[in-house]
Amino acid sequence: MSWTNESARELASQFARRYGREPERIFRAPGRINLVGEHTDYNQGLVLPMGIALETLAAVAPRADRTVEVASLNRRSQWRFDLDAEPCARPTELRWTLYVEGMARVLDQQTPGLGRGADLLVHSTVPEGAGLSSSAALEIAVGAALLWAAGRRLPERELARAGQQAEHHYVGTRCGLMDQLTAVFARRGHALLIDCRTLEIEPVAWPREEPVGLAVCNSGVKHELASSAYNQRRAECERGVEILCRSDRIASLRDIEPNDWPRYETLLPEPIRRRCRHVVYENARVRSFVAAMRAADVEHMGRLLLASHASLRDDYEVSCAELDFLVEAAMNTPGVIGARMMGGGFGGSTINLVRRDAQERFVNAVTDAYRRAFGLTPEIHFVESADGVGEWG
Ligand code: GLA
Repeated sequence: MSWTNESARELASQFARRYGREPERIFRAPGRINLVGEHTDYNQGLVLPMGIALETLAAVAPRADRTVEVASLNRRSQWRFDLDAEPCARPTELRWTLYVEGMARVLDQQTPGLGRGADLLVHSTVPEGAGLSSSAALEIAVGAALLWAAGRRLPERELARAGQQAEHHYVGTRCGLMDQLTAVFARRGHALLIDCRTLEIEPVAWPREEPVGLAVCNSGVKHELASSAYNQRRAECERGVEILCRSDRIASLRDIEPNDWPRYETLLPEPIRRRCRHVVYENARVRSFVAAMRAADVEHMGRLLLASHASLRDDYEVSCAELDFLVEAAMNTPGVIGARMMGGGFGGSTINLVRRDAQERFVNAVTDAYRRAFGLTPEIHFVESADGVGEWG
């Protein structure tokens, strides 16, 4: 295989150094942002993510035995496991390997399994803990690589599901399907309107004629609470549905429209009532955001981002001081149209809708303010959209 681009050549040469042979293929999968629709995916709701040009690469060569070996250029660490042996515990610094091993085992448990193992070398430009789905990018790039090495094909939605299963059963996060579906189906220049009940996906073009762009601002913090609170929020929503379905035909919070909410809310105790209210209104915001994108109404897009943030902060209670501060600092900057926290919460990033001529001002103002308040430098990326999983190089 001759690699057409610089980073592919570099990854291939590192692979050769480590394994004593050339990789046979390189696969890539993107990180993602989410415009709006937070904590709705596991409630069978609507989400509006977009794949970004920060990505994970997985170089691969098949092996004759049932061993999988994986090394990470970012982490400078590696892990090796036998598909026929029980998974074993690993130190915290090797936690990243759970995503790889989880993916391999989930794919191997299917019929047909993987058959043989593979040597893998991964490299990623998706920052970790930033709420940009570095884990889904890793799962999907590695999943595609392992399937190729095994000579197997899998429908795309099934590949996404395998990533989610890896998180549920091997990592311990009961995540929805948004991140994995985006890593698989992302389309350049578009966001994906995903209906998490039917898994229908509709690409929605970014309004190119408008001089506005998206910026991700990484707070650099990830509070301990993140994973346990995520599972707890999910359980609270499930409890809400359990209560509501006693008196009505509700299969999920998706079945409730904002107009009908006053009828339901009195049935729920706090804090479940507020959790459910967030989901009901957030689904409606996704629909409105799509309409605003199609009408290139950036002001309305901005208002929806702010409303989503307020709801995540006050009703869903997954924000934190750093994220609230970053949103406020952004909104104090002329040329910023809207901002909100993004992803699971308790740290990670904000997403900001910024006029193109205000980008520099935005970076300076937010960086200064955040440094003064928290002594931390935020990492700011202007978003470029990207396609979903594919072969690379
Ligand atoms: C994480 C999960 C997703 C989704 C978001 C919140 O990124 O992996 O499934 O639930 O949080 O919207």
